[in-house]
Amino acid sequence: MASPTIIRIGLGHDTHRLGPGTGLVIGGITIPHERRALGHSDADVLLHAITDALLGAAALGDIGELFPDTDPANKGRDSAEMLRLAADRVAAAGWRVVNLDCVIFAQRPKILPHRPRILSRIAEILEIDLAAVWLKAKTGEGVGSIGTEDAIAAECVVLLERIEHA
Ligand code: CDP
Ligand code: ZN
Repeated sequence: MASPTIIRIGLGHDTHRLGPGTGLVIGGITIPHERRALGHSDADVLLHAITDALLGAAALGDIGELFPDTDPANKGRDSAEMLRLAADRVAAAGWRVVNLDCVIFAQRPKILPHRPRILSRIAEILEIDLAAVWLKAKTGEGVGSIGTEDAIAAECVVLLERIEHA
C-alpha cells in the first residue's frame, strides 16, 4: 500500500515602513514608485514573507534567526539570495514546495500590472513551476498605516510535501 503523502503548511508575514526614495523592491523586481521600503536589507517585503512561510512550514526557524539585522553582512542584502538559502535548507531537510499563495498590502502603487514579472521571478528563485505561485494585492482602503502609505505589508502561505525516497 502506498504511504500517505506528508504535507506541511507555513505562514509568513512582513511589514516595512515606506519612506523617501525611488524604486520599490517587491518580489525580486524593482517597481517604479516615488517611495521606497525602508529596512536593513533591500526591504523586499514579499520575499521576506515567503522566506518565513517556507521556514515555518519546515520548522526551521525564521528569517531573523538566519539573517540577523545586527550582522553587517546582511546590510543591503539581496532578499532573493536569502530566500534561495532558506529554500536550500528546506529542500535539504527533505521538503518540496507544492504551491504558495501571497498577498501584498499596499495603497499604492498598483501591483497587478507587475504581477507576471513578480510570479516569474519567484518561480525562478525557488526553481518551481510558474503555476505553483500566485499573488494578490489589496489597498488599505485609505486607512491605517497601509492606507496612508506609511507602510507596506505582505503575507504568504506555502504548502510543502515530503520528498519520497525510493
Ligand atoms: O475591491 P477590494 O476592496 O476587495 O480591493 P482593493 O483593496 O480596493 O483593491 C482593488 C483591486 O486593485 C484588487 O483586487 C487588486 O487586484 C488591485 N490592487 C493592486 O493592483 N495593487 C494594489 N496595491 C492594491 C490593489
Ligand atoms: Zn522584511
